[in-house]
Amino acid sequence: MKKVIIRKTEEIENWRKNINTEINFIPTMGNLHNGHIKLISTAKNDNSNVNLVSIFINPLQFDNKLDLENYPKTIDNDIKISFANGADAIFIPSNEDIYPPNKNINFLKAPIELSSALCGLNRIGHFDGVCTVVYRLLNLIKPKNLYLGEKDWQQLLILKNLVLRKKLNVAIKSIPTQRDFDGIPLSSRNVHLSKNERKLIRFFSSELLEAKNNFKQEKKINLKEIIKKLSAKKISIEYLEHLHPYTLQKARLEDNISLLAGAIRCGETRLIDHVFLMKRRPIIAIDGPAGSGKSTVTKLIAKKLKLLYLDTGAMYRALSWLLIKENIDYKKEKNLQNIFKDISILFKSNTNSHQDVFINNYCVTEEIRSQEISSIVSKISSIKEVRKFLVEEQRKIGKSGGLVAEGRDIGTTVFPNAELKIFLTASIDERAKRRKSDKNSKDSQEIDLKTLKELIKKRDFEDSNREISPLIKAKDAIEIITDGYSINEVVEKIIDLYNDKIPKETEIK
Ligand code: PAF
Repeated sequence: MKKVIIRKTEEIENWRKNINTEINFIPTMGNLHNGHIKLISTAKNDNSNVNLVSIFINPLQFDNKLDLENYPKTIDNDIKISFANGADAIFIPSNEDIYPPNKNINFLKAPIELSSALCGLNRIGHFDGVCTVVYRLLNLIKPKNLYLGEKDWQQLLILKNLVLRKKLNVAIKSIPTQRDFDGIPLSSRNVHLSKNERKLIRFFSSELLEAKNNFKQEKKINLKEIIKKLSAKKISIEYLEHLHPYTLQKARLEDNISLLAGAIRCGETRLIDHVFLMKRRPIIAIDGPAGSGKSTVTKLIAKKLKLLYLDTGAMYRALSWLLIKENIDYKKEKNLQNIFKDISILFKSNTNSHQDVFINNYCVTEEIRSQEISSIVSKISSIKEVRKFLVEEQRKIGKSGGLVAEGRDIGTTVFPNAELKIFLTASIDERAKRRKSDKNSKDSQEIDLKTLKELIKKRDFEDSNREISPLIKAKDAIEIITDGYSINEVVEKIIDLYNDKIPKETEIK
C-alpha cells in the first residue's frame, strides 16, 4: 500500500473511500518518542487494519500559552519515525482544518467526576480540549481501534468515558507507560529538562516504583513518608494521591488494584508519573449453567492471557474420585473431616499444553471424566462440608491471583472480589443442540432433542435452587449469551472486557 500524508480534512474522506480495511488510529501531538513508536507498532502487530497516525498540536488543551509556544515541533522526523514503524498514513491537519473558523465547533466538556481530580485541578480546561479534539478526529477518521498510552491514565479514563457517552463504535486499546533507561516515563516534554531536573524526576519515579514493590509485601503505602522524602530533595509536588484507578476517588482498603499518581514541577516543566499498586494479580470469574461453553472458553482465555486455569469442576470430580477409591461413606461428616485433613489438590501444566489434575499425588485427569464419577459428582458437590472445604482450597490457590476460574459460584462465593465476572449462558435450545452434536457425548446418539431440552431445564432448576452455592448471576457480573457466536468470538469479547478493566501496566513485574 502506498504511504500517504494527508493534510486536509476533505482528503480524509477520499482516502477512507479507497481503503478496504478498518482503521487503527494513533493520535499524537508529534515529537514522537519510543512511547509513540510502541503505540504504532502495537497497532501494526494487532491486526491487518491500516494504521493512521495524526500529528496535531491541539491549542485547546494547553492551559498555558508559553507551554504551547515551547511545545517541541519536529515534524520531519515524526513523519520518518511514523512510516518506519508501521504507519500507512499520516494526518497533519492545520488549526483551521480541525477548528474551521466559519463553522460551529462542538466544544465538549470532560465529565466533572474524572476531570476534577489529579491533573484537572491545576490544568483548567485541559481535558475539555482533549475531548473536543479527539471527538473531532474520531468523527473524521471513523477508526475501528484507538490506541492510547497508559502514561496519561486520567486522559485514558476520560476518553473511554467519551466513547461510552457518545456511543462511538471504536475500541480503545492501551499500552503500558514506556520508561527511559533511567526509569523516567517517556514524554515529549522531557527534552526541556536540564541535567539536574532530570535527576529530580528520576528520584520521583524511583520513589513511586519502590512504593509499588513495597506494596507487594506490605499491602499498604505511607504517602506522608514519600512526600517527606521528595520534599527533602526540594522537589515541588503538585499532587501525590492514592486513588481508586477507575473512579479516581480515594482508594479504599478493599481495592485490590489502586493508583498512586503524582505530578511534580521541575523548573518550567511539569511532569507526571504513576504506578498501580496490587494486592494480588487479577482474577477472572466465569460462571454459568451446564452447556454454556464455559470450559472451552475458560481454557482458551487462560492460555491467551497466560493465567492459571482453575477448573473447580475438576476439583469436585477429583474429590469424588478419592471418596469412591477409598470407599468412604461420605454421608458421615466425621469421615469427611478426617479425609480433608490430608488432601492436596494440584493443577500442573502438561506437555500437551493442557493441565493435569492431581489429588494426593495421583494424576486423575482422565479418570475423573468417567461415567461413574459423572453420575456421583453432583450429589457429592451438594454436601455442605465438601463445598466449604473446596471453596477454601480454591481461595488458597487464588491467594496471589493470576487466574481464571470457572464454575457456578465463583463470582458469588469463591472470589466475590474478582476483577472481572462473566456469566456465560446460552438458550436451552442452543445448549440442547450443542449436546446433541457433541460427538464425545453419549447424548448425541441416545437422547432425542426434546428430551435433552427437558433434562437441561431440570438441571438448571436444580442448580439454581439448591441450598448451598446455587447458580446465580453475581450482581456485578456481565452476562454473555453465546447463541450464534463462535467460541473465538466469545473469547475475544471476554479478553476485550479484561483489557478494558485491567491496566496493561499491571502485567509488568
Ligand atoms: O496524549 C496526547 O498526545 C494528546 O492529548 C492527544 C490524545 C493526541 C490529543 O491531542
